[in-house]
Amino acid sequence: MSAAFMEPIERASRAELEALQLDRLKWSLKRAYDNVEHYRKKFDAAGVKPDDLKTLADLAKFPFTTKADLRDTYPYGLFASPMRDIVRVHASSGTTGKPTVVGYTQKDVDTWADLVARSFRAAGIGPDDIILNSYGYGLFTGGLGAHYGGERLGAAVIPMSGGQTEKQVQLIQDFKPTVLLCTPSYALTIADELARQGIKPSDTSLRVGVFGAEPWTNEMRREIEQKLGIDAVDLYGLSEVMGPGVACESVETKDGPHIWEDHFYPEVIDPQTGEPVADGEEGELVFTSLTKEALPIIRYRTRDLTRLLPGTGRAMRRMGKIAGRSDDMLIIRGVNMFPTQIEEILLRNEHLCGHYQIVVSRDHNLDELDVFVELMPDDEAGAGQRDEIAHDVAHRIKTFVGVSARIHVVDPDSIERVVVGKAKRVVDKRPK
Ligand code: DLL
Repeated sequence: MSAAFMEPIERASRAELEALQLDRLKWSLKRAYDNVEHYRKKFDAAGVKPDDLKTLADLAKFPFTTKADLRDTYPYGLFASPMRDIVRVHASSGTTGKPTVVGYTQKDVDTWADLVARSFRAAGIGPDDIILNSYGYGLFTGGLGAHYGGERLGAAVIPMSGGQTEKQVQLIQDFKPTVLLCTPSYALTIADELARQGIKPSDTSLRVGVFGAEPWTNEMRREIEQKLGIDAVDLYGLSEVMGPGVACESVETKDGPHIWEDHFYPEVIDPQTGEPVADGEEGELVFTSLTKEALPIIRYRTRDLTRLLPGTGRAMRRMGKIAGRSDDMLIIRGVNMFPTQIEEILLRNEHLCGHYQIVVSRDHNLDELDVFVELMPDDEAGAGQRDEIAHDVAHRIKTFVGVSARIHVVDPDSIERVVVGKAKRVVDKRPK
């Protein structure tokens, strides 16, 4: 992107950027310590005070924050602003079935829109563009986060949300969007539907796609680019840190998302020892927010595995494409889920027992979820009743987890038992 379209901070030197980061980091640590009891207790237990941060490297003295901290303080316990200053709440699914809740002040929402607009600019999008926003609207940060960023940029945003693939295709034909926003797997589904309707996908008005919310490879990028005849750009983010727009690729280089380091301080750590590793080395990505008011997040362990790379065209560093996650979270069609969420729902049905297995596969580029679960040993449910149980469970999984699953209610003792070690709950058959 021509430097003329960049904000001044995108053109700053590394030294200027680091000076800003240090100031903001001090502010953020103090805000967390002074306003959030949970942080105060954790800092005190670790024997650190915000004043102990004299250099950026001192951040390593401070304790990590994990999803468990958000869960333990559910729903609003980590907020550093009173509810009267909160203007938006989002949530994402968590391990216990209770979601992780995040909040924003008006200033936070404004910063978010600015950073998504900056992301889109890096992706080569401008005020003349028409954006089909097919990220899900709702508690998920994708839809609204992208929406406000598109408006901030001055583009025309079509708030389509996810699903209804035939309608997506109709809107692509009639509204002539130049930009598509959705998960990468859904982009391929849309491409397939275009093809099914006899429309040559590369003949549409689409020019750029900004895809994220789930891991995707460069092979997947090539397939999307070929099928849709567009540039496919990687957009990264997570709700705990903000939402989409924490980092985004440049369309010219497509060499990993630029991290918006003036608002989020990145570290990569060894997930086993917790020690920061050198730039270029693979590890777990950790973020500290530098400007967020409502939810200052200190050393948040994302569980995402990647590495920090030198900036290209900016002093801000890039991240490599996410290699995977350090825990067992599954992302099915862009929705985050854990095996325990499925277990919770299965075991609420009196006919079903704790012997189950989750099989994830991919059919025509879309994730498929099969759940095999045994009847209670003495249960005599026949075929009709099993269908009813399966239907009920699938409905609950759709409602509470947000994904469609095929439920197979099988005979007792038909799922393989693990005699030594942990039960293998997930069989992931998707190509790596
Ligand atoms: O997925 C925010 C988002 C929406 C990002 C739309 C991009 C586009 P969460 O639901 O909290 O937030 O999930 C965050 O999704 O920790 C990663 O594991 C994964 N993820 C997000 N973006 C990418 C990406 C949104 N570009 C979790 N590549 C993160 C790989 C991604 N994984």
